Amino acid sequence: MMKNVSILGSTGSIGRNTLQVIEHLSDKFNIVGLAAGKNTKLLKKQVEKFKPKVVSLERTEDAQEIMQAYSHLGLRVVSGREGAEEIAQIEDNDIVVCAITGINGLLPTLAAVKAGKRVALANKESMVVAGSLLKKEANRTGAEIIPVDSEHSGVFQCLVKENRENIKRVILTASGGPFFRTPKEDMQKITLEEALNHPRWKMGAKVTIDSATLMNKGLELIEAKWLFDLHPQQLEILIHPQSIVHSLVEMKDGSVLAQMSTTDMRIPIQYALTYPQREKAPVASLDLSQIQSLDFFEVDTNKFPLIKIARLALKEGGSFPVALNAANEEVVDAFLKKKLRFSEVYDVIREAVEAHDTREVNSIEEIFQIDREIKMKTRKIIEQRC
Ligand SMILES: NC(=O)c1ccc[n+]([C@@H]2O[C@H](COP(=O)([O-])OP(=O)(O)OC[C@H]3O[C@@H](n4cnc5c(N)ncnc54)[C@H](OP(=O)(O)O)[C@@H]3O)[C@@H](O)[C@H]2O)c1
Repeated sequence: MMKNVSILGSTGSIGRNTLQVIEHLSDKFNIVGLAAGKNTKLLKKQVEKFKPKVVSLERTEDAQEIMQAYSHLGLRVVSGREGAEEIAQIEDNDIVVCAITGINGLLPTLAAVKAGKRVALANKESMVVAGSLLKKEANRTGAEIIPVDSEHSGVFQCLVKENRENIKRVILTASGGPFFRTPKEDMQKITLEEALNHPRWKMGAKVTIDSATLMNKGLELIEAKWLFDLHPQQLEILIHPQSIVHSLVEMKDGSVLAQMSTTDMRIPIQYALTYPQREKAPVASLDLSQIQSLDFFEVDTNKFPLIKIARLALKEGGSFPVALNAANEEVVDAFLKKKLRFSEVYDVIREAVEAHDTREVNSIEEIFQIDREIKMKTRKIIEQRC
């Protein structure tokens, strides 16, 4: 049966890859809604090709431009946060792909969970800051949260026929980013262009920088805790530069399950759409004889100290992950605007969260309040350094 899909963040890296999957499986999936940020040019092309019923843009003026261009199609055009939430809750949706970056994706993701449909989750920051609330809401509405992040999709795939009580530990792999082999003393000289040049994955700017600092892996630990109900001590990271093994799950009897594939986000995206079925994908076969060796290394937390703070946030829970995510979002934004050096990223984040008094968070309003407070504090720290 044909399934209706809406994409939040359709103009981004995950959004574009999702549309490729849908084009390939056009006899199974149909686009009903697309939400974008500011890229009107690309959204127009997507409208012409996929003919959604509703689209949303971040700004009203961009929405008006689209409305005028496509009035003849009977397209509904909405805008702002409410616009993205409307796309998440389109009655006809069977699946909502949540791929807006950062905490900006939280309310639309929550709206999708509240609608009780399948949520293909790429927006890891939502789980990091509001994992408990999203899980509670999904239990209430029956929404299925299927991970899109390749590591979490790997764990999910390993566990399809397993009893989760039998898990001993989960190991998320990390490519190590562009600076895995950079000597610690040379980390001072890293430029924005070098940090944006990821050796394995082509992704949006924010997640690419997070991959260079390894904060991405820290956020993924917290995401995994909520997705798979794991204790912090059950979660580990291994550097695996080939990015072929996406995750490993050790069961209590000593068996270790691994999920492997070529480095292509269309594989986990497609799985999140077709689960529990599998469909042919337009991706290269994995040829291990060409790759020859698969290497695994411990993370050097002296070189990538954000992993230590992320582990602390994982252990403490409550408002700490919210604070850490807020500081990180502000710092990455400043680094992308060249207001901060790569070598300052850790110091600023540490200073922004070290005095944070961890408390329970019980509402979305509290999450946004902490996010605002920490972002303001981080901006001040950055300004003092400029
Ligand atoms: N890329 C990957 O391979 C990958 C892998 C695993 C997980 N993820 C996660 O998936 C999420 C998306 O990553 P990405 O690489 O696809 O990022 P990206 O390329 O930067 O795309 C982000 C998308 O969100 C839209 N957007 C941003 N702010 C918005 C707002 N306020 N309202 C509506 N739309 C907004 C952007 O629109 P415009 O471009 O139109 O402004 C774009 O469509 C992140 O949470 C990331 O951590 C990504």
